[in-house]
Order: sequence, then C-alpha cells, then structure tokens
Amino acid sequence: MAENTAQQRMAYLYEEIARLNRAYYDLDAPLVTDAEYDALLRELQALEAENPQFARADSPTQRVGGSSSAKFSQVEHEVPLLSLGNTFSGEELAEFAARCEKSAGQPLTYVLEPKIDGLTVALTYEGGKLVQAATRGNGSVGENVLENVLTIAGLPHNLPDFNGRLLVRGEVYMPKAAFAELNEQREEDGQTTFANPRNAAAGSLRQLDSAVTAGRKLAVWLYDILLLEGAEQPQTHQQALQFLHSLCLPVIEEWLAGDIATVVAALEGWQQKRHKLAYDIDGLVLKVDDEQVRQSLGSTAKAPRGAVAYKFPAEAVETTVLDIQVGVGRTGVLTPLAVVDPVWVAGSRISKATLHNEDNVADKDIRIGDRVLLHKAGDVIPEIIKSLPESRTGDERIFVMPHNCPECGSAAERAEGEAAWRCLNPVCPARIREGIYHFVSRGAMNIEGMGPQLINQLLEAGKIHDAADIFLLTEEDLLPLPRMGQKSAQNVLQSIETARTRPLSALLAALGIPYVGGRAGQLLAAKFNDLQALSTAKYEDLLAVEAIGKIIAGSVVKWFADADNQKLLQKLQAGGVRPQAEVAPKQDGLLNGKIFVLTGTLPSLTREQAKAMLEAAGAKVTGSVSRKTDYVLAGEAAGSKLEKAQQLGVAVITEAEMLAMLAEN
Ligand code: IVH
Repeated sequence: MAENTAQQRMAYLYEEIARLNRAYYDLDAPLVTDAEYDALLRELQALEAENPQFARADSPTQRVGGSSSAKFSQVEHEVPLLSLGNTFSGEELAEFAARCEKSAGQPLTYVLEPKIDGLTVALTYEGGKLVQAATRGNGSVGENVLENVLTIAGLPHNLPDFNGRLLVRGEVYMPKAAFAELNEQREEDGQTTFANPRNAAAGSLRQLDSAVTAGRKLAVWLYDILLLEGAEQPQTHQQALQFLHSLCLPVIEEWLAGDIATVVAALEGWQQKRHKLAYDIDGLVLKVDDEQVRQSLGSTAKAPRGAVAYKFPAEAVETTVLDIQVGVGRTGVLTPLAVVDPVWVAGSRISKATLHNEDNVADKDIRIGDRVLLHKAGDVIPEIIKSLPESRTGDERIFVMPHNCPECGSAAERAEGEAAWRCLNPVCPARIREGIYHFVSRGAMNIEGMGPQLINQLLEAGKIHDAADIFLLTEEDLLPLPRMGQKSAQNVLQSIETARTRPLSALLAALGIPYVGGRAGQLLAAKFNDLQALSTAKYEDLLAVEAIGKIIAGSVVKWFADADNQKLLQKLQAGGVRPQAEVAPKQDGLLNGKIFVLTGTLPSLTREQAKAMLEAAGAKVTGSVSRKTDYVLAGEAAGSKLEKAQQLGVAVITEAEMLAMLAEN
C-alpha cells in the first residue's frame, strides 16, 4: 500500500476501533461481530508493522480493552488483566506451540479450555472472604462490581479452608437458557432485547441496583490465579484449577491436557460439543501447562506469550423455515425473507434470513416448513445454505413469489435477464418509507435522531410524504408525536438544519440513484460541482469521468430525466437544501486499491454490474485468485476460484456483504 494511503487507512482504523470500543465496553451494545472487530484490529496491526512511523502510542493494538464508566467506583488492578492473541486454525495453534517450545527449549504440555463468551472479573479473597470484584475495564483500572457479583449463585462468599490472599480471574456469563428467558420477558414488557448472552451478562453485571442483577441468573467460571499468598504455589495450570476446585470455587468445567498434537486433534470435537453446552463459547483457550515456563515466556503489552485463543470458524446450524415473507426495498425490489425458528448462530439469535430472490429459493428448493442449514455469511449476515429434503414430512409448502407488491398491491414485474421482481409503483408506501430511511442514513444525509421509528410516525401523521418534506418540518409538527419532548424536537431540527448543507456527494448518495453510492457520488460531485450541472450532463460527459462506466452513466441520465425526480429536486431546493461543492474526491475509500475476484452467479446483480459498482468504489476487479486478492465475491455454483480462495485464506463474501461494504464506502 502506498504510504499516504496506509496513513489514511490507519487514521480511519484508529477512529473506527475507538468507536467500536466505546459501543462495546461503555454501552454494552456492540456494533459489529467479534470476527469483524478482530479483522480490523489485525489489519491495523499489519499496517503498524509496515508503517511504524504512523503508529500511535495509544494504539488499540497496545491496549487491552475498553475504559471503565463513571457509574461505579474505580478499582486499580494489582495484577494487570491482559487479553489474549487470536488464532483461527489448528495450523496457527501449532505455530504458536512451536514458538513456545523453541523459546522454552523443550516439548511442552498444554491445557485446552473453553473460551466462555462473557465478561472478565477479577475476584479478591482475603482472610477467606470475598472482598473485591472488579471488571476488566482497560486492563489496569476496572469497575467495582462486588455488590453485584455477590448475587451470583454458586460463587462462595467465604472460603472456610483458606485464610490467605487469592486474586483469581474468571468469566461472568449468562447461561443460554437464562438468556432466552430474559429476552422473552423483555420482549413481553416492550423492552429492547439483548443481542447475545455476553451483552446480557455485561448489562446485568453493571446494574446500579444489585437486586436487578440478582434476578438475572448469572454464573461464573474461574480459570486463572493472578496471585496466591498463604498456600503452596501450583506448579502447573492443571494444579491451579484443582486448587481452586478444592476451595469449592466454580472452576471451568471441561478441559483437556496433552501435547500440541493431542490438543489440535481435539479441536473438531469441540466444534460439535459447543452447541451442547449450557453456555455460549466463542472458541477455546490454549495455555502452557507449566507455570514456570508460562511465566518465563512473558507477555507483550497486550497478551501473554504462553496462552492464546482459538476462535471457532463460522458455524452452521439446523432450523425450520416457519414462513417466507416478502419485503419491498426502496428500489421496489421484492425480497423473499425466511422467518425461521429462532436459533443461535455465531453468538446471536437469528429469526430471519434473506432468501435474496425467487431463483435462489427455487434453486435451493427451500420450502415453508423445511428443515434448513443456516449460517452467518462472513459471520455477519444470516443465510440459508441449503434445505434438508431428507427431513421432509410432506407437509411442506412450495413458495410462490407474488406477482403483486405485497405492500401496495400493484403489479410487480420481473425484467428479462434480471433475478428480481420489482414493484413498479413509484408511490408505493413501502418504497417511499425505505427510500426515506436510506435518505437520512449515515452514509447519505446523516440526519441524526431521525430513525425508522420517527419516520414511520411522521408518515402516519401525514407530516411527510417524501424525503424533501423533512426540510419543511417545524417544531409544531414534531411536538405532538409520542415520546417527543421539546429538547428532542430541537435536536432533530438542528440535525435537519445541518443536513441542508451536507456535501453534494452525500445528497447524491441519499437520492437513491441506482448504482450511485458514496464513492460514485464523490466522483460525480467533484467533477460537476453542482446539482444543476450534473442534472443536465449528457451520457458522454458522465462517461468521461474517471471510474464512471456505462452502467452508472446510464443510470444517472435516466434518473435526472424522470419528471418525478425533478419535482423532488425542486422541493429539496425549496426546503433550503444547498449541497456544498466537493473539493476533491476522497482517496481513502474503503475499497480503494482492494482487489476483487468475482465468481459464480450472484443473486441479484450480473457480474458486469457488480464489477462496475466495485470499480466505482475504487476497487480493482481481476480474473484470478492469488495471495494478493483481498476478496472473492462468490455467488451460486462458484467453482475453482472459490476453492483457491479458501486454500489461500482469502476472504470470501456474498453479494449482500459487498453491497453492505459499498453502502459504508
Ligand atoms: S485466559 C491473560 N481462559 O477471553 C489472559 N480467558 O479473548 C487470561 N476468556 O479476556 C485469559 N474464557 O475474558 C482465559 N478459559 C479462559 C477464558 C478466557 C474466556 C476470555 C477472557 C479474555 C478473553 C480473551
């Protein structure tokens, strides 16, 4: 990567990781999956290694975790609570072991333990009494949550057989069943549900009222002695676990010890076993058994060298398709959506999965009532891999794509050569609603405080009919809405005011012109400077813009030629929208310089279209997979390129994920 691009990318990663950390640690509301977070952190680590001159001293790669909030009193950890490095395969684990053994100069025994998906606590027992319990916080300073930890069933408050001093680390978690029950209850009460057991555990442990925590059925496993005074030091990790067990402390339930070959051979069995556990685990932890060797291996600023995490690969689970519903997007595309019997996949509860389009349902022969195999594509997007016809009872129903819009009832159409059915009614309420959601979204006009709920209320109350009406809203329009105080109303109006002068590229992305996302919007805005010039530009003028190809040029011309769109533009102008001219196109687009290979049949785009979109976002599309390839975009019936990508460990993404990337770009 060129130096300046690397520097920009690093600046972006610093900001993004800080944002994700705040959401995760301070708000207990993660914005991305662990896998996505790890990928960003790894990318930053690699860039820092290549470009140390741009690395920041306070880099998240050098720190252990989040910060502690002001709600609880602070506790300085006597022994810093480090984190763990990650591995993702048996080979990587073996490489880790080889490094340990080389350093120790001898073959070693390891302990393999489940990696519980919960929240770290550090407990202090003094004179046989539990006197302190702290969260990890940033690894040096955490929060005092003793009152709440004392409510956890199965954790002794007193240790009758031990009078010394013991600092022990463990994981507070919420068993799957307790989590499901809690969420059900919250749903009934109209409260927001927790995304996964870890967030539920975190939210429960950090309650100011310990009576609330007591009602939450938390549990704890302990797995690491941080300090021990007044008893013989355990020589091995296994002895440490036995010692804790002898004190009646809840010690991690199942573990295995052996040489690295034994441990690696056990990985696959764990893949199956994890689903049978009463609690969620997101991987395993490998630890050098010999305490002295583990000590001598030392640690980096972030993690010990004698222990490492192994993260499970994306998993697939079986469930039942309860129904197939059809949603309408802002472009009128009708998308079949499977409603499935809720299941746990990769750390969250899935109840819906997109089926992309009619052909995908038919090709995979997914019927209502079918047992199916579901996974999270790229650990993010729930997707049905295949149906399991051998489990059919004969009561399953074949899905028929409606030929009318399920929302407005008007005729839908499937154009020649396209996979999608579209509602052709430009005033379809679903299309308008979805279009407004998109208009205000972060990558577009970024109107903070205007989420789907408020938009729905405004539509229902007849206060808005299209995106342009947003700019005509007054305090009197907002105040009568449910849960809208004067302060909130003023905040919304302020966000709207700010949006009036967003850059032209943002407005272009917001308008929903097919194929014009953030990046194409920037290129066009930089060239044409104002909306008037762009709206009268000819097809050839557009094609002359670098990286703008036939598809985008055609789409832009068509959009501006439409009388309704022209009316919308006039209305926006009347509402005081004055987009600011662009100075120069952003060079650090997320996909800038990224190399893509396309393979297989995509659910809704032709490969030609996907290529055009990627190129407009700054990516390069090449024909064959190599180590240099950043992503393989794979559709149905992807063949050798997909295999090669898997062999080389190149990231494989779906069309939906590509679209998500472009939306962010
Ligand atoms: S050992 C110095 N063992 O995973 C490192 N950690 O991704 C000590 N975790 O922060 C950690 N189960 O919160 C260890 N059996 C286990 C664990 C475990 C879960 C958590 C822990 C750690 C995180 C690292």
